[in-house]
Order: sequence, then C-alpha cells, then structure tokens
Amino acid sequence: MSNLPYAEPYKIKTIENLKVTTRKEREELIKKANFNLFQLKSDHVFIDFLTDSGTGAMSEGQWSAMMLGDESYAGSRSYFFLKETIKEILGFEYFLPTHQGRAAENVIFSTILKEGDTVPGNTHFDTTKGHIEFRKAHAVDCSIDEAFDTELVMPFKGNVDLKKLEKVFETTPIEKIPCFVLTITCNSGGGQPVSMQNIKDVAALCKSKNVPLLIDSARFAENAYFIKEREEGYKNHTIKEIVKEIFQYADIMTMSSKKDAIVNMGGFVAMKSEELFRKAAVFNIMFEGYITYGGLSGRDMGALAVGLDEGTEYNYLKSRIKQVEFLGDKLIEYGVPIMRPVGGHAVFLDAKKIYSHIPKEQFQAQVLGIELYKEAGIRGVEIGALLADRDPQTGENRYPERELLRLAIPRRVYTDNHMNYVAKAVSNVYERRDSVKKGFKIVYEAPIMRHFTVELAEL
Ligand code: F0G
Repeated sequence: MSNLPYAEPYKIKTIENLKVTTRKEREELIKKANFNLFQLKSDHVFIDFLTDSGTGAMSEGQWSAMMLGDESYAGSRSYFFLKETIKEILGFEYFLPTHQGRAAENVIFSTILKEGDTVPGNTHFDTTKGHIEFRKAHAVDCSIDEAFDTELVMPFKGNVDLKKLEKVFETTPIEKIPCFVLTITCNSGGGQPVSMQNIKDVAALCKSKNVPLLIDSARFAENAYFIKEREEGYKNHTIKEIVKEIFQYADIMTMSSKKDAIVNMGGFVAMKSEELFRKAAVFNIMFEGYITYGGLSGRDMGALAVGLDEGTEYNYLKSRIKQVEFLGDKLIEYGVPIMRPVGGHAVFLDAKKIYSHIPKEQFQAQVLGIELYKEAGIRGVEIGALLADRDPQTGENRYPERELLRLAIPRRVYTDNHMNYVAKAVSNVYERRDSVKKGFKIVYEAPIMRHFTVELAEL
C-alpha cells in the first residue's frame, strides 16, 4: 500500500472567478432574500454547496464531444454514441433521453403507475415521491432502522430492510406494486450506499413476486466506489465491473445525469424490456421529444456519454469521495455534530443538536444555513421542517426526525483549500451557537414544495 495521499487526477484549465462580499453586505442581502437561500443571486454566494446537481465541471473530453454534437432531429450520431455507451457501461439495451432525472421519472411512472398503487423503496428522493403521490399512489419506506440514527457508523446505511419489504409484498396485492425503487446512493438518507449483497437480495425478492426493480441511479458510480472499498470480494474489481453487476439485477433505471455523469443538464430512463420501451416511448414523445433526442440536444448527449465513462473511473471517484470525507473529517475534528458516516456527495450538519436551545418551530436547520451564509458566504440547503412541508390532511407543520443542513459538494469544482475555509466557517458558527437565541417565522408559503419560495422573518 502506498502512503501517498489522494490527489485529483486532473489539472485546471479554465477558472471561474468568485465574488467576495462583506459580512455587512451579506446581512442585507439575506434579509432582502427573505431569509431564503434559494432567493439569493449566485453572484452573492462565495462557495455554493446548495446542490451537487448540474454544478460539476465538464472535462476537455466532454467539451470536445459538444463540438461533435449532431443536431439532427431523428437518428443523430450523438444519440447512437450515447446508446452504445449506455449498453457498454450499464448493460441496458433500450433507453429514452430526457431533460433531467425527474423527467425520466415522469415518463416511466406515466407508463407503469396507477392511482392506488404502492411503490416500496429505500427512502425515495423528493421528486420520485412527488411523482408517486401526484398520481395518488403511495411511497413506502423500507429502509433499515439504522438509517435514521445520525451517529451510527456502518458501511451500507442505504440498505433495504428485507423484512419490511416482505411485509409490503404480503399485505398489498402484487398487481398494485408496479415496481420497487432502489436509490443508490440514498440521497435523502444522507448519500449512504447500498451493498451489492442487498441489491442482489432485493432483486431476488422482487423477482420471486414478479415486481420489476427500478434503480434510481443519480449517484450509482459513487455507490460502486463504496462497494469496492467496503464490501468483501470487490477490492480487486474495477468500478466498471461493479457497475455492470449492479445493473444486471435491474429491470429499469432512471438517471439524473447531472450528478455522476457530470453534465449540467440531462437524464434518461433505460430498460431491458422492448415492450416497456415501446410503451414509455409514447410518453417520452409527448413530454420530452422524439425518441432519439428526448429532452436533449445532440451535443448534450455527447457530453453525457463521455461523462458516463469518466464518472466510472476509480481515480476520479476516489478524489471526489475523499474530498467530501476530508470536509467531514475536519468538521468532526472541530467537534461539529454531523451525520455519520460521511456520505458520497455531501456533508450533513445536525442542526437539531447544534441549536437544541431553539424550538423546532423556529426552523433550526434554516437558522444554521443563514448563520453560515452570513459568516462566510457559504450556501447550503435546509433538509428539515421547511422541506417537510405541512401534512396535506391536517395542514399542520411536519417536523421530521432529522433536522439537517446539507452541504452538497459539486464535482471537480472546489479545492481542498475551499474545504478548509468551509470547515473553519462552520466551526466559528458552531462555537457561537449559544449567542443565537431565536429562529424564524413564516410570512409567506406556497401550498406545495414551499421551501423554494418561502419567505421568512426574524423572531
Ligand atoms: N433522484 C435522486 C436520487 C436525486 O438526488 C435527484 C435530484 C433526482 C432523482 C431528480 O433529478 O434534479 O435531474 O430532476 N437531486 C438534486 C439534489 C436536485 O439537489 O439532490 P433531477
């Protein structure tokens, strides 16, 4: 074993300048933004950890593929390039390009989901759950109980509890279960991976009931990296071999390519069944575009194909995941309570523990997000009571078990020096936690997905 530290397997050719603001300016700016981080101009953000989605830096290979894009309406070269890459890396014969991940969900759920259906999964991502509930179907969370303990360290906290899944199969008519959704890594659970063994077991159980396995694959390559590093028997496998095996067990995959395929926009849905492809193609044409471009330009499909290849290379993934871990470890050193183990794409700060003296009705994670912005111009995202919305039946605020501020790290964008800066800023906010006495009240909220547009006032 080499004792050398990790280093990025690339160097920087183009840079994007960041604007620096003063604390006084930020205090004004966030007030004008109604204490909603989504309402800030990005020019007023120094380090943007709002999301790792669509915010990555493309490579020279991807930019070159853009120049080679074929913009023909039907049968473009870029489409066939992407089709061959998906077959080669992921093993799917059929696919439909879409403009992003939720559009892929829209196409496939329009095809297979009916009112009254049940869709089990391992903590569905918001848009997936949204598409299910919008169609008056139910999303059932079959995650292992350990996933909800923020401090417990275990290698595969994204796993499915097979007993919970069996129970769903026993208590629901099988014809009312159109698929199982396995999200790898599990974003809503903290970017935690699912083991190959668990993927195999879920697939076998689904197969025994004839229920298709759909893998929500936004961060599939990061999941494969964790399998290589943590699961017995995979140390000597390449990432591409692991990826191939994962998708052997799947019937359908939806992909937000804005994450592990490192493009700024793009997605697709892929399937093994020709019959399903034909049915889904109708919805793709209706919502997205003709089957050989869907929601994408030819050049976007080219960059996406190259990104799938680069994103499944070990050295890239190692530097990516080590950087996220680097930030997490620094925060642990500073004594800041974070969700553990550190996930693949983000560090989650435990606002419930940091601001235990502020009532949850005053939105602890939002308080932390605002304090961090004021401190250093860093933007995270609240994963707490604001995001959880109100109960549609009672109209009461929902207070989730976890009240977190997510710092999602864009791919190939920031340096470890930025991580040091962020860690110190978080530590400063943490040290001063007792000086913050109050949180916020809502002055405006939309009836659904309120966190994007909510307006808050200081108490
Ligand atoms: N599935 C997962 C697991 C996701 O994390 C996302 C998006 C989607 C599906 C939807 O994909 O945005 O391309 O339509 N997650 C982003 C985030 C928005 O910030 O975590 P999309």
